[in-house]
Amino acid sequence: MGGEGNGIYWWTNGFWVGVLWQLYHATNQESYRATAEVLEKRFDTALEGFLGLHHDVGFMWLHTAIANYRLTGNETSKRRGLHAATILAGRYNPNGQFLRAWNHDRIGWMIVDSMMNIPILYWAAAELGDPRFTTIAKAHADTCMNTIVRTDGSCNHIISFDPATGEYLDNPGGQGYASGSAWSRGNAWALYGFALSYLHTKDENYLNTAKKIAHYFIANLAQTDWIPLADFRSPKEPIIQDSTAGMIAACGMLEIAKHVPEHEKDLYRTSAINVITACEKAFANWNVDEDSIMSGGTEAYHSGDKARHVPIIYGDYFFVEAVLRLLDKDFLIW
Ligand code: GLY
Repeated sequence: MGGEGNGIYWWTNGFWVGVLWQLYHATNQESYRATAEVLEKRFDTALEGFLGLHHDVGFMWLHTAIANYRLTGNETSKRRGLHAATILAGRYNPNGQFLRAWNHDRIGWMIVDSMMNIPILYWAAAELGDPRFTTIAKAHADTCMNTIVRTDGSCNHIISFDPATGEYLDNPGGQGYASGSAWSRGNAWALYGFALSYLHTKDENYLNTAKKIAHYFIANLAQTDWIPLADFRSPKEPIIQDSTAGMIAACGMLEIAKHVPEHEKDLYRTSAINVITACEKAFANWNVDEDSIMSGGTEAYHSGDKARHVPIIYGDYFFVEAVLRLLDKDFLIW
């Protein structure tokens, strides 16, 4: 479960549990639920330890305790989810109106990945009837829309603000090629994240932003036979791909398709199917004796060979979610 050196705090720990809840929902098979519940308890060490937690608490508890509560009504799970949502709300910087990313000295940093974490705030707001959580989520999404998303639909990964005044300082490079490039997984987080913010708030600006990012994403996919590059603005060589970006974006496109008029749906649905099909053909491993299905994932553009074109758990999670969406058997974990 643990990422290298980060143990129970590692941001990807929830995705396997998310796969189990999706499969439990789709099949009703008890063993999926039982395994997910055992794993959920392990995350209590992270809630108690607290210091290693950061903006990614949404990824961790939406896929574990909150999924459990939504499907089974488990009250202990609900408490865990509310605890995690409160931790995320506590990271809000009112000066710059953003949720701070990571810990240590990055006090004024906001990152695009956070758009997939704020659904935990929308959930807490609905659960408690407390609008403060939505106010924070919307303020953060608006700041993200105004600073992370560029006019052409591409996205920055990181924005740095003065934490005391909220003044915009810089857009440091992150997991993409460089500052000013277009890290495809970051673009996918934004695409799906804004679609989800629309789902939870019905603010049309978020749907339009999700569509704009999707159009940029689709235009780039069409250049590379529907397999995303790890960065859409990187040198032609070496060719570095990232299937995880494709799976996340596909889920986001399928979400957008639910909210647009009939005559617009095809663009998003067909593009989603194209990317899923291309990545399945290129990277899927259906050998049941080996872990993981979807290979072709890249942790970061500058990762060495060990983390480039490899199976990554979130690639599998979003592949499973995308397929279940197409079968109309998915469960909205977000
Ligand atoms: N840090 C989140 C990601 O790698 O996408």
